[in-house]
Amino acid sequence: MLFKLTDEHLMIQNMVREFSRKVVAATAMDRDKSKEFPADNFKQMGELGLMGMMIPEEYGGEEADTISYVLALSEIAYSCASTSVVMSVQNSIVCESLNKFGSQAQKEEFLVPLASGEMIGAFALTEPEAGSDPVSQEATAVKDGDDFIINGTKRFITSGKHSKVVLVTAKTDETKGHKGISCFIVPKGTKGLVVGHMEDKMGLRASDTTDLIFENCRVPAANMLGNEGDGFKIAMSGLDSGRIGIASQSLGVATAAFDAAVKYAKKRKQFGSAISKHQAIRFQIADMAVQIEAAKQLVFSAAAMKDRGEVFTKEASMAKLFASEMVNTVTARAIQMHGGYGFTKDYDVERYYRDARVFTIYEGTSEIQRIVISNNILRDKRKP
Ligand code: CAA
Repeated sequence: MLFKLTDEHLMIQNMVREFSRKVVAATAMDRDKSKEFPADNFKQMGELGLMGMMIPEEYGGEEADTISYVLALSEIAYSCASTSVVMSVQNSIVCESLNKFGSQAQKEEFLVPLASGEMIGAFALTEPEAGSDPVSQEATAVKDGDDFIINGTKRFITSGKHSKVVLVTAKTDETKGHKGISCFIVPKGTKGLVVGHMEDKMGLRASDTTDLIFENCRVPAANMLGNEGDGFKIAMSGLDSGRIGIASQSLGVATAAFDAAVKYAKKRKQFGSAISKHQAIRFQIADMAVQIEAAKQLVFSAAAMKDRGEVFTKEASMAKLFASEMVNTVTARAIQMHGGYGFTKDYDVERYYRDARVFTIYEGTSEIQRIVISNNILRDKRKP
């Protein structure tokens, strides 16, 4: 392996692995059926310092590096992808955006309870008609005295229902393209913010994905995150970090599917021997292991660049593209190796396959990752 993990990395990995396989795994299959939000997992994860891992201690975080975060998130995803997506959005797009762009007062009021896991946050960028192209969003925020009044509908918002605070983007100047988008911190309970339709999804069923409707929602100007016009930059920089999260999630689910497939192949007998003795299966196992290892190197590489303070946009997109495509291949192969049993809900691989399907879609589709990668190759690099 390219990176030598430190004793501290290994300690964090072991601690999260133990918690994840004992506590998180215990209810994952049931929650997939019941769609029950894993609130009790998050309470314990907050106590373990997993909800604001990379945030300074003074704001309720653990001040861990990104490698530790990748290890922890992968371990949670190994047991329950629904739990891991909430952890990912919370740590990266929500907490890191507040830490990077928030004022002292905003950090004290919102970051501290978020990073310490006392409350869940959401990031609302996507709209019904603006997914891959968030600059075309229609939500508006109009200045009115010391306030802004937000109107618009956000779609596919992770933790839309269970979050207690939402970072939302809206246009403050229709004429300025991406520079006319600003970001606001809106606590739940603010008049005019309504949780709308909840999606009935193929996977990640215990994580809620909802519309958020803003109807003349008045927030103080002091709740603007960053400066007027910073909203797109905040979203893009949050997504850089978020994409390392989705890549880590992909690693965790792929490893779980791989382990399940190997275990099954050793146990299942056909033609007089364990199917793991058959070359067709052995080659599948070899290919899956190579794919997972290759993804791991890309994820660690992007995380290490982030830790060194370098621009890691391209590398985060590479890791997200490769790892999310990889997990779709690996989970499909794990089902194939399980034969008919893999198609039933008695085996975890069926859930892994459904959960992984969205990884090539959210936080930027594979097509968007290719745009980001090629743009960064073909034009001048941004400075950190
Ligand atoms: N960090 C900081 N600033 C960035 C940036 C980054 N990574 N990427 C771009 N910018 C800045 C640029 O510097 C530029 O600013 P200036 O004009 O001041 O120089 C500005 O943003 C515009 O950049 P581009 O010209 O590159 O933007 P674009 O419009 O050509 O392309 C895009 C942008 C890559 C297509 C982008 O729109 C994109 O990533 N789309 C996908 C959106 C997405 O991932 N949505 C996911 C929704 S969130 C979600 O899924 C969360 C969840 O709940 C799970």
